[in-house]
Amino acid sequence: MHILHVVGARPNFMKVAPVMAALACKPGIRQTLIHTGQHYDPNMSDIFFRQLEIPEPDINLEIGSGSHAIQTAQIMMRFEEVVQEHKPDWVLVYGDVNSTIAAALVCAKLWIPVAHVEAGLRSGDRRMPEEINRLLTDQIASLLFTPSTDGDENLKKEGITSDKIRFVGNVMIDTLIRLLPYAERVDLPGVPDRYVLVTLHRPSNVDEPTMLKPIMETLIRLSERLPVVFPIHPRTRKRLAEYEIMIPTGQQLQLLDPVGYIEFLALQRRASIVITDSGGIQEETTYLGVPCLTLRENTERPVTVSMGTNVLVGRDMQRLEQEVHHILDGSAKPKQIPPLWDGKAGERIADIMFEYA
Ligand code: UD1
Ligand code: UDP
Repeated sequence: MHILHVVGARPNFMKVAPVMAALACKPGIRQTLIHTGQHYDPNMSDIFFRQLEIPEPDINLEIGSGSHAIQTAQIMMRFEEVVQEHKPDWVLVYGDVNSTIAAALVCAKLWIPVAHVEAGLRSGDRRMPEEINRLLTDQIASLLFTPSTDGDENLKKEGITSDKIRFVGNVMIDTLIRLLPYAERVDLPGVPDRYVLVTLHRPSNVDEPTMLKPIMETLIRLSERLPVVFPIHPRTRKRLAEYEIMIPTGQQLQLLDPVGYIEFLALQRRASIVITDSGGIQEETTYLGVPCLTLRENTERPVTVSMGTNVLVGRDMQRLEQEVHHILDGSAKPKQIPPLWDGKAGERIADIMFEYA
């Protein structure tokens, strides 16, 4: 059986690694890895292949950045040729980025079955580009691998039959469990002992100066109580320059370039609080038991709120400051790890795919 995997953006790499590794242990399965090139900076792509020991991509479509329509269409055009040439038996797509829906749509038209890893997550917010990608990918996939049981419920409500849905657990946590021992040993030069860790890249937070400015002002104020460490996504870096938002010198707010997975895991594990709008980081902090404040009105990962350490603070800067002080004063949520976030989700996926061989 020939399985073709499609990845393109940073959060895809943590998800494909354990699935490819588990499938490599199965006899008679050939794997091909396609990188769409949606993310291309060395610290948004190459570093993860090295640290996570993902095989070199067989093909890089080198799509790069563009509007949603341009990016999605170019991936489709180039990926269609790849599928026609390689004729895979199955295509595995990951998460909710433009590369995910573009590849799934190509396959649906060519009658190639698609398996979606991290299916069923819903924020209920169709203004998020990822929500559209999730809804559409799940409708056209033949197998849906869910990370949590809310995913199963969402899919059934959308008319997807139970025989296609498999609750396998969280592949991102497989990668975390595997690499945590390395993160525990890594040096973080220049990082203070106690700090707040921040990441932001959602268009709703960073593409509007009326949102990004108050966020940065709040982070500067918070840094007077505890230093703030902020590895900054290229989208956000661009917006800070465009809106001429400066960090006054002498502030305890460190802006870094994006860091590798092991370094970021170390930063999360040692942080007093994480402030983020990332999807994956809501999950990783839940597993690590680190308090997470999510700067969004909703989340497609509700289990991180109901069981984990995540608190949705919306877009309310006063609330963010209150929650930070509340946690620093000693009242954080207790830690509980969701079912099947156990480091074996990739193996479960490989076992199921092997049934189709
Ligand atoms: C994408 C995903 C988002 C995911 C995020 C993870 C979509 C619609 N969005 O958002 O779901 O949470 O990745 O990080 O698929 N850029 C660089 N170098 C790079 C990559 C991007 O400079 O290697 C800059 C470019 O200016 C680009 C911008 O970042 O225009 C946005 O990149 P894009 O991939 O379109 O969206 P993300 O915000 O990264
Ligand atoms: N991450 C990283 N370096 C960073 C920031 C994040 O390795 O500087 C990792 C993080 O640990 C998680 C993944 O990137 O595994 C999350 O990706 P991102 O926030 O870009 O996307 P999202 O999950 O929001 O789609």
